[in-house]
Amino acid sequence: MDILVIGGGGREHAIIRKLKESPKAGVIYCAPGNGGISKDAVCVPISAMDIPAVVSFAKEKKVGLVFVAPDDPLAAGMVDALEAEGIPAFGPRANAAQIEASKVFSKDLMKRYGIPTAQYEVFADPAEAVAWIEKNNRFPIVVKADGLALGKGVLICPDLQAAKDAVKEIMEDKVFGASGNRVVVEEFLTGPEVSVLAFTDGHCVKPMVSSKDHKRALDGDQGLNTGGMGTISPNPYYTDEIAETCMKTIFLPTIEAMKKEGRPFKGCLYFGLMLTPDGPKVIEYNSRFGDPETQVVLPRLKTDFVDVLMAVVEERLEEQPIEWSDEACACVVMASSGYPGHYEKGLPISGLDENGQVEGATVYHAGTALKDGVFVTNGGRVLGVTALGDTLDQALQRAYDAVGRIHWKDVHFRHDIGAVK
Ligand code: AMP
Ligand code: GLY
Repeated sequence: MDILVIGGGGREHAIIRKLKESPKAGVIYCAPGNGGISKDAVCVPISAMDIPAVVSFAKEKKVGLVFVAPDDPLAAGMVDALEAEGIPAFGPRANAAQIEASKVFSKDLMKRYGIPTAQYEVFADPAEAVAWIEKNNRFPIVVKADGLALGKGVLICPDLQAAKDAVKEIMEDKVFGASGNRVVVEEFLTGPEVSVLAFTDGHCVKPMVSSKDHKRALDGDQGLNTGGMGTISPNPYYTDEIAETCMKTIFLPTIEAMKKEGRPFKGCLYFGLMLTPDGPKVIEYNSRFGDPETQVVLPRLKTDFVDVLMAVVEERLEEQPIEWSDEACACVVMASSGYPGHYEKGLPISGLDENGQVEGATVYHAGTALKDGVFVTNGGRVLGVTALGDTLDQALQRAYDAVGRIHWKDVHFRHDIGAVK
């Protein structure tokens, strides 16, 4: 079966590498892909947001499956458009992708169905938001833009002035555009964070192995929030007992809630959880695989990936066994200096080969281009250097060993991925 993957980052590279292990996968296309991905898939110059072009390409090539990885084409209805043409697609329809695309929607859903999450208020008027924050007078307080904001729409405000600035930035200066027409003002929660990705066909939910993302740009969780600077799997805080609680209080109720709302969720649902002193709570939902969570979760999947994806698409996940390896996995993101702010592109990368020259290591390309046969930097996050190991320490050691062999001018990475506070 020929397969088309939509997207062009490290997550998509990890998805493609996993698909290639399946004897059922034929030609793998990627739109638009990137320099590194072009070594593993046929990259086609179609934007991940160009729904008509994706649909006609999929028809022309008669692909058996389209895997829509990023959030925006999902929210824009790419899966709906493919299904309308009879093309099997992995990912939620637009009405279910709302669980990520609107924080107001997801918070209201959780409230209606008693799913544990932070207390919150919604505002469409900046003055009302500020008046409420002032009256509430509890800090830190969290201000979130309603819509998609490239992972940057969440501001944690230590005091009233910061909260006023956040409301102004989001609602008046519109730094995230229409995503800031409404804000969610939310109670500040504490505790370790866990990412759990789950396969679901709208009826049954099968969580994958857990992971932990390191979102801040600098060591010691300092600096700005990024898309993710590194991940480990499993998450050391996520015990079997906690997993059981999450299944009962969060995973199943969410799947049921979406079904009852007439928005059955099919695809990968990502639960961003916080293990608070009052038990696990939902920080956010994403309607897709996480990046760079995918890079540490998929290498541990033992079952044929194509089988699992088709079981989701054809709504027979219940009968599809899914097996995971007991190994640990670590991913260290090598980024451009300046990311998540401004950064230079086009810097030549040296010391790169497919396997990172270290046993158990793999290099997933997030933002590279090929220029005259040489890989150059072409994004904020450039590489996800990933390794499996018998233990987390071994996986981390291998990943950092591989990182040490790769260079470009002013390369930036965190030195403390996997350090558990
Ligand atoms: P999000 O984009 O929703 O994942 O939020 C980004 C990060 O902000 C999360 O990973 C948390 O670290 C933090 N965050 C979001 N909401 C809260 C909250 N209610 N309390 C504490 N931290 C939060
Ligand atoms: N790594 C967080 C995300 O994919 O949203």
